[in-house]
Amino acid sequence: MYNEGKLTKEGKNLKYLVPLITLGSNTMGYFDDEKNVQDYIEMVDGYDGAALIKVLQDYLPDESALLELGMGPGKDLDILNQCFKATGSDISQVFINLYREKHPEADLLLLDAVTLDTDRTFNCIYSNKVLHHLTKDELQHSLCNQTRLLRKNGLLFHSFWHGDKEEMNHGLRFVYYLEEELKAIVDGLFEVVKMERYKEIEEDDSFYVILKKIDYVANEILEEVKNIQCPIEELDGQKSEKIRNDVKKKYVHPSYREIHWENFVQDLEYSFKDENGWYVIQNFPYTKPVLMFFNERESKFMFRFNNLRDVSKVYGETFGYEFYLTNEDSDFLICFNHHDYLIGLGKAYEWVQKAHLKKLGTN
Ligand SMILES: C[S@@+](CC[C@H](N)C(=O)[O-])C[C@H]1O[C@@H](n2cnc3c(N)ncnc32)[C@H](O)[C@@H]1O
Repeated sequence: MYNEGKLTKEGKNLKYLVPLITLGSNTMGYFDDEKNVQDYIEMVDGYDGAALIKVLQDYLPDESALLELGMGPGKDLDILNQCFKATGSDISQVFINLYREKHPEADLLLLDAVTLDTDRTFNCIYSNKVLHHLTKDELQHSLCNQTRLLRKNGLLFHSFWHGDKEEMNHGLRFVYYLEEELKAIVDGLFEVVKMERYKEIEEDDSFYVILKKIDYVANEILEEVKNIQCPIEELDGQKSEKIRNDVKKKYVHPSYREIHWENFVQDLEYSFKDENGWYVIQNFPYTKPVLMFFNERESKFMFRFNNLRDVSKVYGETFGYEFYLTNEDSDFLICFNHHDYLIGLGKAYEWVQKAHLKKLGTN
């Protein structure tokens, strides 16, 4: 469907792209060597991912915030920046420094595609022939971490070598994938929006995939509020990001980056086990609207409910996800987790404590 010619590295020395030797599993450091980087730059002269990016443009609105993983020399990053707000990244400081010399203003991150150690979030994460350098386990970790960096309705766009071998060439790992295997890897986490083979060197030697995170929690809630006609409002990305940041500052231990009940500052929380915790919350002395959100990897949505009673009503009809409740000033935080613990922080510390005493008194 797009111009294959643009993707062909004809006449180039392809030794760094074409896997040759089957070895163990050590790919570290190859692109930390300036000579290797220079060789790679020469080899891919005349090549860019323009045709792939053209496909992406059909799915991602202009000006979207995009993160490129493994940018290498940055040819794709140049093109991506013509339509999106692109941030480049690579695990190799050498590539980052080289691009920085030519583009002092560029938004660049030194980033391992596996750990993705950043607080930034994006509408899309893109890579072109990068993730095949990871082991299959590392790819799983990377995809899981990518869900953390993706904004609501965010997309992934990644290209892979097509096949079913695993090889090492000059200390670099090459893991080939068949479409079915990749589908199985992303199953349950992402929905495949589009997957198509293309020619990089030989016919059908590569494929790209566009993935969209499946938001089971938000889908379930939105479906149920329609059924029981409970009015809720979805907060926009900017507003929910601000609330999340406020909550993080107040209640999450500074050494953690995610709002998760395991990361709360322990002295600030009161908790007890009660499988009806989700129901008990409607007895708390707070009658104003509340904001409901979730573990970041599960859902980036934030909903405003009219009151705690409506929260219980909807939760009672849906399945057991972990949720957090706060208000605009984040002066309380309530969590009901998978282990049936009701956790209160800020003003909710006392409410949860009282609910616990009440439960003990009635037992
Ligand atoms: C084959 S090059 C592709 C570069 C660029 N995407 C292109 O199309 O020319 C692979 C790139 O992935 C980077 N890379 C390898 N492992 C990585 C990792 N774990 N995290 C981030 N980047 C990585 C390398 O430093 C290199 O820049």
